Amino acid sequence: MLDQTIKPSSIVQYLDQYVIGQEEAKKTVAVAVYAHFRKIAHLRRADVPIVKSNILLIGSSGTGKTLLCNTLSTFLGVPFVTAEATSLAQTRYVNEEIEAILQRLADKAGGNIAQAQNGIVFIDEIDKLKATDAQTRSTSGESVQHALLKIMEGAPVKLSNGQYIDTTDILFICGGAFVGLDEIMSQTHGYGFISTSNVDNQKIMDRLNSRVKPTDLFTFGLIPEFTGRLPVVAHFEDLSRKMLVRIMTEPKNSIYSQFREIFRNENVELTVNPLVFEQIAEIAFEYKTGARSLRGIFEELITPVLYVVPDKPEIRKVVIASMFVEPTYS
Ligand SMILES: Nc1ncnc2c1ncn2[C@@H]1O[C@H](COP(=O)(O)OP(=O)(O)OP(=O)(O)O)[C@@H](O)[C@H]1O
Ligand SMILES: [Mg+2]
Repeated sequence: MLDQTIKPSSIVQYLDQYVIGQEEAKKTVAVAVYAHFRKIAHLRRADVPIVKSNILLIGSSGTGKTLLCNTLSTFLGVPFVTAEATSLAQTRYVNEEIEAILQRLADKAGGNIAQAQNGIVFIDEIDKLKATDAQTRSTSGESVQHALLKIMEGAPVKLSNGQYIDTTDILFICGGAFVGLDEIMSQTHGYGFISTSNVDNQKIMDRLNSRVKPTDLFTFGLIPEFTGRLPVVAHFEDLSRKMLVRIMTEPKNSIYSQFREIFRNENVELTVNPLVFEQIAEIAFEYKTGARSLRGIFEELITPVLYVVPDKPEIRKVVIASMFVEPTYS
């Protein structure tokens, strides 16, 4: 069970160490998770039915959705599994797939069903379940949505060993890029006609206008019953060049600190100048895959250096000043 001293702000503080930017999303998720575990702890005793606040994460590829969920689960210490909606749509045996996901959750809890029932299930690529995609042989997106909403709501599911796992208290987080949703939103949002006489009103209007409405998701292709079970929506921003630079250098386990550690093990001090990170960010920005391409570009830069260094024990320092200049060894 979740540590009772955990507060939304402490969740955000922890996430900040690993996830750059995405302040709104972090707060939304932190509050939803906090509220979820509070409800489980208190309402169960009060005998009031729990209204679950499953979460939908919307944002372009490589902006930190999966990272945020993984980091969150580490912090919370509750069993956590990730599944891809696309693989659910590719099988004809959706219910078996879903059962397998819950089995993995039970395994994560060391077979403790009670613990697994308080876990988190992250279902990625939920946007690929668009109802309009008519598919043959495999299960259509729409029927996968139907299968999922049953367990999201809360249902007993029989595992292969005959045990039942109740999904009522399991928190479901769905994620997807939802390409094209911006366009839908820009066409359907009409809060603007309400008169906005002062700055505060304008702020509220801006907030409402940036909110994803269930009808937007419906237009996109998710069935209403499904969107209805995802009342909390967190939006991930596209990453700017500046954020890409920060991602390479700031997180506890950043690419830079990882490679500095590798070189330290060879007794070499690696220095990469800020210009290099800007250059890498520029290239990655062009690739439009969020932060996903950063590691590859960085590794390409560092591979020739890592090839040379072990052969020359006299090297103590390596400085990379630019992507387009040979590193200096000393
Ligand atoms: N905001 C961020 N802060 C720190 N690192 C990030 C951030 N966004 C992305 N990254 C880095 O990029 C990698 C890919 O991000 P992640 O897997 O979270 O993307 P995603 O949003 O789930 O994308 P997709 O929709 O393609 O699944 C992460 O492992 C992490 O190293
Ligand atoms: Mg992902």
